[in-house]
This record gives sequence, structure tokens and C-alpha cells, in this order.
Amino acid sequence: MCGIIGVTARDGNVVPLVLEGLERLEYRGYDSVGVAVNAGGRILVRKASGKLADVRRRLALDSLVGSTAIGHTRWATHGAPNDVNAHPHEDCDGSIALVHNGVIRNYASLREELASRGHRLRSETDTELIAHLIEEGVKAGLPVIEALAGAISRLDGSYALAILVAGEPGRIYFARMRSPLILGFGEGVNAVASDIPALLHLTRRIMTLEDGEFGWISPDRVEIYRLGAGGYERLKAIEVQARVKTVEWTLEKASKGGYPHFMIKEIYEQPQALQDTYNGAVEAPEVSRAARLIVEAPRVYVVGAGTSYHAGLVFSYYLSRLAGVASIPLISSEFKFYESTVGEGDVVVAVSQSGETYDTLEAVRAYKARGAVVIGVTNVVGSALDRLGDLTLYIRAGPEIGVAATKTFTSQVMVLQLLAIRAAEARGALDPSEAREKAGILAAAPQVASEAIRSSEPLAKLLASRGNWRSIYVLGRGLGYPIAKEGALKIKEIAYLHAEAYPAGESKHGPIALVEDGFPVFLVATSDSPEIAGNALEMAARGADVMVLKPSDMELDLKSSERIRILSMPGGGLLLEPYSLTPFFQLLAYYKAVQSGYDPDKPRNLAKTVTVE
Ligand code: G6P
Repeated sequence: MCGIIGVTARDGNVVPLVLEGLERLEYRGYDSVGVAVNAGGRILVRKASGKLADVRRRLALDSLVGSTAIGHTRWATHGAPNDVNAHPHEDCDGSIALVHNGVIRNYASLREELASRGHRLRSETDTELIAHLIEEGVKAGLPVIEALAGAISRLDGSYALAILVAGEPGRIYFARMRSPLILGFGEGVNAVASDIPALLHLTRRIMTLEDGEFGWISPDRVEIYRLGAGGYERLKAIEVQARVKTVEWTLEKASKGGYPHFMIKEIYEQPQALQDTYNGAVEAPEVSRAARLIVEAPRVYVVGAGTSYHAGLVFSYYLSRLAGVASIPLISSEFKFYESTVGEGDVVVAVSQSGETYDTLEAVRAYKARGAVVIGVTNVVGSALDRLGDLTLYIRAGPEIGVAATKTFTSQVMVLQLLAIRAAEARGALDPSEAREKAGILAAAPQVASEAIRSSEPLAKLLASRGNWRSIYVLGRGLGYPIAKEGALKIKEIAYLHAEAYPAGESKHGPIALVEDGFPVFLVATSDSPEIAGNALEMAARGADVMVLKPSDMELDLKSSERIRILSMPGGGLLLEPYSLTPFFQLLAYYKAVQSGYDPDKPRNLAKTVTVE
């Protein structure tokens, strides 16, 4: 996730407007910043790694002048967050500059192709390749709009683009596919940006672009085209006008995307985050490399803290089910008790959203010192884990500001599922076509997450308003167990309500002793464990208030009754169930916190990143 903006005005200097927009976009990424202006047909680029305020001062961004400019704030996905990889990126001779948010899936093959045709590639990014693709069209004599159409039709993945072309000083070209992009229309000034807050200082007249749309803006005009199977067509002016809406948001509300808190915004961002995760990992050679290391290793350890530990449990589950590979999942702070078993060639899969969690890094250092190979799974390119690991798999969820992990959990799960699928392929447990089919199933995850959020919202709100719970159980079997653990953690940390998760089969070994009339029990039914119906009945028989969360296509020998309520979520099979069953608990925790007057973004006693033991 990155933030992009472009502003073009009839007269005056737009650089201060671009910088103000970037300030509001920094929540989308903050590891590097860049601006390009078209100064009378010459493009000037200034960019560097670091946060906006720092880069602004160091590079004197305020001294740039131009009536057409683009800007970018980056959240690295391809290549380290350094000066060269910062956006904007240019073509060979600096006559095209562009900024990009998204992930290009066919990056490796495009890079090879462009390099073989003699392009001078300066950065490690997927973005730069787009500038060179457009360059080829322009140099072949095509109008820029055709060159742009040709370039984007070669891209597989997600992109929101804003582009300057030296020879067309008043124009900003743009394109969108699976990454957010809007246009803003002011008086003698038009703009393009990732989201509404970035443009509120310019205008409230906004139009949201759809996937496959591209075109250009000048200070007083807009042309939009739509990419189709047989080429592209121009949208009629009347259609464009009808889609322009006036937004009423305040700036404060807008910085959270219109949501009252970051947590709820991030819950709702899951479909987009999953899309980016999928694009970045489904064909990534490093995932296959990591998988080979795993199947060749004598032992596999999986370490993580908090939510990342739960993602690690999900990984162990799929690794066992799909690949037949045993692994040892560990809470990071417990690493030393198992250290003596670690040896040369063992693999440690270290899961950490921030890549900075102290205990996880300590585990990695200790296991590495004993000869283990480290596969880091993180959201932060350039983090300590990224640097320490032998290999890093990025989850590409974009920055997460709410202290409780939400979208980073589901994105971690997706990368780890793909890793398990590749491991199964490397081990011969799945043949290549079966592996392709399994990975293909995950393409539906964004849709499943989106439907799950929609179905969960009213239920979670309603249940959160039952104010008399003192303690709850969240139970699961198989895949349902780590999902239940993550659900219980959300409820504890955000709603300050005691919630305990354990494998449902354990009830009779102790926990059921607490169950009395009205005791709330949530059951996470996953399609691997229909026997959970029995657990629902045994709880209901003791007076529990049982709520069974289940995928709609799962057969369960259970009927709704006075004591048992069935909450139906989207189906699609075992690989999609983490996306179907997780959002409900995130939303329940969120609404319970809000209704109790707690700040869900900053729960008491907790920090986003724990850098101490
Ligand atoms: C803290 C956060 C959790 C997170 C855990 C691990 O406890 O509040 O949301 O799951 O750290 O963080 P990591 O960055 O390593 O995933």
C-alpha cells in the first residue's frame, strides 16, 4: 500500500498542494517520499527514503515549482526502502515519470523482457517497469494514451498510477486496477489521488474510478477510457459528470477513510489487502524457494508473538494437512526452552507483522546461531526481521495503525497458505496442476472476506450490545482452533472482556465446569470438523448460550434452538475459511469496545510493537 497524488492547475504552483496531500496520505506508507513536477516540458524528480517531514526538509521539496506535479509516499513491496527505489520512477531518458500503488505480479518476466531490449533499469521496483513500457509505445510513435493502454494491458496485478509526460506539461495521466484511485475536480485545478482526504484541501467534488479505467486530466478537462477485451473505449462526458459526487466528510473523519477508528477501517481494508497479498505472493519465486527449504529441513519451527503466533498455528495446520510436513509452532518468548533441539539446516519460519518484535528477533538470532535457516514473514520491508532472515516473504498488507492486528493477520495467513501449498508441491504431495488449483482458490479470498464482513457486521453489533457477559469461551477444532484463539485475543485486548479459546474437544477435561445458565460460548465450525456439533449440544445441555459460526456450505448436524444460534458465513472450503470466520470476531471486539466507551485503536497497557523482552 502506498499513497499517490497528482495535481494540475491552470496557474500557480501546485507543489504545496501535493505536499499537503502527501501529509494526509502518509498513513498509507511512510518509508520514502518523492515528488515530480513538469516544469514547462522538463520533468524534475526529487525523492528519498525517510518520512515526509524529514525528506521535505532534506531535499527542500518546498522549493520545487510547477503547475503540474505528482507525489508519492511509499510502503515498500518490491525492493528495500532506499532512495533509488523511492517513487517517482522514470523511463530511460527521464521524459516519463510515474507514481504507483499496487503490486505487479508478472514483474520478473517483464523485467527480463525490458532489460533484454536494452532498457536502463535503475531500481528494483515493479513500478519502474511501467514507465519503460509506456516509453516503448511513445517511442514507437503512439499517442501517450495509446502507449498507456498498451502498457497497462501488459500488467498482471494491481495498480493505481499517476503519470507525467514531459511533452504534455499540463496533463496527468492515470490508470486504475484493483488499487484505489479517485479524481477531484476544482476550479481551474484537477487532481488524482489514492483517497479522499488527500484532496479535501482542493475540492469536495470527487469521482471514484473503476478497475480498468484510465485517462488524463488537465486543469479544465478530463478524458476517461475503459479497457475491454477488444481494446478500449472512451466514456461519454455525461457518464463522467453523473459519477462526480460532492463529499461531506470532515478532514478528521476522512483521514480514517470515513471510519471513526483505524481498527474498523483496517477490518474493512482486508479484501484490498488480501488482493495485494495474493498478487505479490501467488507466483513469487521466493515462496517456492522457501518451500523447498522447508521440505528439505530436518525440523521446521514456526515462531511468532500474539496474532502472528496464531497465523503461525494456521501455517502448521496447513503444512501438515497439505504437505504432510510436521512443524513445531512456538510462541516467540518460549524459544529458548526448545533451543537445544535446533540444528544445522533446520528451518525457522518467523512471523512478525512489524518485523521488530523483540522476542521473535531473539528467537531468530538464537536459532540462526545454531545453523537454522530463517524465513521471515513480515509486513515491513527493511525491518530487523527482513534484514536478519535468509529469505523474506512480504505480506503486503499496507501499514496497520490500530494496535490490534486485523488485516495483517489475514494477509499473513494467505502468504503462509501459499507457502504450505508450494511445500506440498515441492514434496510431491500435490502435483503442479493440483497446486495451481489450490493457489487459484485463494483468488476468491478478497471476495470471501468482503462478504464475511458484510454478514458479520449486523450480528457483531447486535451481540456486542448484550452487556452482561463477564467471560466467554471461543472454541474450535482443527483449523477452527487458531481462528478461535485469534478471536478470543481480539475480544480480550480491545473489549477488555475475558475470553478463553481452547480446542473444543477439551471441554470435558475441565473448562465445562464453569458453564452455567447463560454462559456465552462461541464455536468456530470449520469444514474439517463436523464433530463440533456435539460440542455445541453438550454446552447447550448445561445452559450455555451457544453461538455457532459456520461456513454456509458446511453440513452440520445441528439446528437453531433457544440455546443454539447458528451464524452463517460465506463458504468455499477449507482454504477460504480463515477469511470467512475471522472478521466476525474482529467486529465483535470492535463494537463491544466502542459500546463500552473504550478506544479500540489504543487499548490500555498495549503497544503496536513490543521491542522489549
Ligand atoms: C503486539 C501487538 C499485536 C501483535 C504482536 C506481535 O502484541 O499488539 O497486535 O500481534 O505484538 O507483533 P508482530 O509485529 O511481531 O506481528
